[in-house]
Amino acid sequence: MIDLPDSDILPLSMRHSFWTWSAQSKVSPIPVKRALGVYFWDVNDKRYLDFNSMVMCVNIGHGDQRVIDAIIEQARQLPFAGPPMATKPRAILGQLLSQITPGDLDRFLFTLGGADANENAIKIARAYTGKHKILARYRSYHGASAGAMAATGDPRRLIWEPNLMPGVVHFLDPYRYRSTFHRTNSDISPTDFTLDYLNHLEEIITYEGPQTIAAILLETVTGTNGIIIPPEGYLMGVRQLCDRYGILLIADEVMSGFGRTGRWFAVEHWDIIPDLMTMAKGLTSGYAPLGAVAMRPQIADFFNDRVYQSGLTYNAHPISLAAAIANIQVMQEDRIVEHTAEMGPVLHRLLTDLGEQHPSVGEVRSIGLFGVIELVRNRQTKEPLAPYDGASPEMVAIRKYLLDHGLYLYSHWHTLLVIPPLIINQEQLEEGFALLDKALEISDQAIK
Ligand SMILES: Cc1ncc(COP(=O)(O)O)c(C=O)c1O
Repeated sequence: MIDLPDSDILPLSMRHSFWTWSAQSKVSPIPVKRALGVYFWDVNDKRYLDFNSMVMCVNIGHGDQRVIDAIIEQARQLPFAGPPMATKPRAILGQLLSQITPGDLDRFLFTLGGADANENAIKIARAYTGKHKILARYRSYHGASAGAMAATGDPRRLIWEPNLMPGVVHFLDPYRYRSTFHRTNSDISPTDFTLDYLNHLEEIITYEGPQTIAAILLETVTGTNGIIIPPEGYLMGVRQLCDRYGILLIADEVMSGFGRTGRWFAVEHWDIIPDLMTMAKGLTSGYAPLGAVAMRPQIADFFNDRVYQSGLTYNAHPISLAAAIANIQVMQEDRIVEHTAEMGPVLHRLLTDLGEQHPSVGEVRSIGLFGVIELVRNRQTKEPLAPYDGASPEMVAIRKYLLDHGLYLYSHWHTLLVIPPLIINQEQLEEGFALLDKALEISDQAIK
């Protein structure tokens, strides 16, 4: 390995890298040197508490030796075999996944990450149904490749239009705090609330024509667009609409899967089985790139005598598969899903307390270790602390305060997301919330 002084990591990275999701002159990366558990350190030994699992993916925590060893062992035995090959990690991972995924999902296409998992799910749904439209929600993110970006509802898609995959129709999310249908009737009963959004979806299905719709694609629990937790009955209602109209249901569990919500997969909370389910991130906890599409047997069987006309050089990469196997074993051995279910109420209490202390908190939501703080200028009007798809000096100042004080988290417009490694304990959560408590003094001053 070429040696490089720590002090050169940042300038040399800046000199030759082209950065994603960034204006190149505005990037300010942390020169990260090492990571362990729920923390990482930069080259100056400054410690950060990781409230974002790096990119919402390091579910088992950083630096787990068991996964590192599995990667090393796989690299020794067989670092690469092409996608047409049968390999030991492919055999083992498929079987493991069939045991932990819900219902009869038991065939898996292994991808490079989340976006291409969604791309493949869309292709499979279109081929299987012989229909072309995909319904997806506005408050969604499904990935940055052309098809996944077309399905994405949030404004990250807009700059690339109109050259994205055609055939996507968006619909509204059952987002209670900012409900489009209930601005003047916030007392609506949960049942009626759910029904209004299901009726809205059914109306769209009717107008678009069920005979043209291949699938409804949705994040089981919406991630970056605000940890929107589906109300009771909603997902079951969507499942029933799919069945009634011959439409497939694709659950995007790229962020909500692998224990994040306190179950292996978020769909389990609402007892539904999607026809296709996509995963990535927590599948390897980020130790190697991997995604997957889980499908029901009848969908896989459809391709028994038809060629599935797609694939990439690195599909089912042995090192990534080995990382996933070890990651799942760690989750099982350390009972990480159970731990997350126990920590969920702790996080919820901390979020609620924070909301009670700070008038700039409009609402908090969480499920498992998947939480959000919505910051507002006014609790009555719910005016967000930053505009939709924009920034504000207060949000910039909050982000800066947190980073300066060693708390790393993801903030999106007027929201702060709390998505820590699932091994986090109460003390570590409290450590982060003590900093959040201080940081929100900034937003409290912006209250009108
Ligand atoms: C819900 C969801 N789907 C898909 C993706 C895309 O995954 P990837 O970045 O691995 O392509 C993401 C990434 O954040 C995601 O949150």
